[in-house]
Amino acid sequence: MLPLVTLASVLAASASARAESTQAPYLTPTYPNIAACVDLPLQYSCENTTAFTNACCNVVEGGLVLQTQFWDTYTGLEDEGQLLPYGSWGIHGLWPDNCDGSYSQYCDATRDYTGPNVTSFINDFGRTDLLDYMNNFWINQGAPNDDFWAHEFSKHATCTSTFDVACYGPDYVEHMEVVNFYETVTKVFQMYPTYNMLAAAGILPSNTTTYTLAEITNALVSQTGAVPYLGCSGSDGTVLDEVWYFHHVLGTEQYGHFKTINSTTASSCASTGVWYYERTNTSERLVKY
Ligand SMILES: *[C@@H]1O[C@H](CO)[C@@H](O)[C@H](O)[C@H]1NC(C)=O
Ligand SMILES: *[C@@H]1O[C@H](CO)[C@@H](O)[C@H](O)[C@H]1NC(C)=O
Ligand SMILES: *[C@@H]1O[C@H](CO)[C@@H](O)[C@H](O)[C@H]1NC(C)=O
Ligand SMILES: *[C@@H]1O[C@H](CO)[C@@H](O)[C@H](O)[C@H]1NC(C)=O
Ligand SMILES: *[C@@H]1O[C@H](CO)[C@@H](O)[C@H](O)[C@H]1NC(C)=O
Repeated sequence: MLPLVTLASVLAASASARAESTQAPYLTPTYPNIAACVDLPLQYSCENTTAFTNACCNVVEGGLVLQTQFWDTYTGLEDEGQLLPYGSWGIHGLWPDNCDGSYSQYCDATRDYTGPNVTSFINDFGRTDLLDYMNNFWINQGAPNDDFWAHEFSKHATCTSTFDVACYGPDYVEHMEVVNFYETVTKVFQMYPTYNMLAAAGILPSNTTTYTLAEITNALVSQTGAVPYLGCSGSDGTVLDEVWYFHHVLGTEQYGHFKTINSTTASSCASTGVWYYERTNTSERLVKY
């Protein structure tokens, strides 16, 4: 007869396995301390700000949150292997606008970082997985990727209340919030596979056919329920190159719920004759997502 395996014996065995391997598999966590947030009233940012008593628990500063993406056709650093993700738009950032659409920037001069330094911070926390993801999807034009990441943290994350150092509590380890911000950006980016949403509606990059602004907008609205900002370059606004998804956030930006809302900014694109250009194929590479 087989011995009876009790839950207690399984738990004891797994606890001792954990104790034996305290080194290798465990990374220093990068989460904020939200213990004080648990019993606070639930409220989306920018909807009733009198409800907010703790800026670490809700996005009090910069509560109109924008997840922004680029459609670039080249990087300028192809020779160095800096390539765009095939079948995907690229990450721009996660921006804190004030509820009225105005915004602050560079809110903490002591956290004004440079590119190589932010790469070290990510490596210091053992997050080579995050670094790989960022090098696949968060691509700069004309300068190294990590310059762009450092710029986005220093300009925007320092103005988002839930990434304040004070929100990390007594277990704070320096630069934890930088890594936590980058994790958050990649998480929210993954909510919006712009390339696939458009492609699934028959809107593919083309150097021979243009689209109307309404065709592009409606395809995205059909999946997100809200009108994003679409940005176009060129003097006549006919080259599609940006999308911004707007939100109100319940809880923290790190872990709370993002509700997609209509853009507060009018599109810069022409209403017809919008080019969604194909990329030069040597500017792209196949990445996993
Ligand atoms: C706003 O929040 C306050 C504090 O939680 C609450 O008393 C008030 O009823 C809320 N107002 C609205 C319109 O929801
Ligand atoms: C970047 O890192 C270097 C080397 O650790 C350090 O000397 C320098 O002060 C850092 N610069 C910034 C802006 O953090
Ligand atoms: C969002 O925009 C759409 C299209 O213009 C409009 O029908 C809808 O009422 C707007 N939603 C809100 C909540 O304003
Ligand atoms: C499509 O046009 C864009 C913009 O002129 C150009 O950069 C790109 O190389 C073209 N792509 C292809 C595949 O011809
Ligand atoms: C780019 O397209 C050319 C012509 O179609 C093809 O010969 C080449 O292999 C492609 N390169 C890549 C990296 O896909």
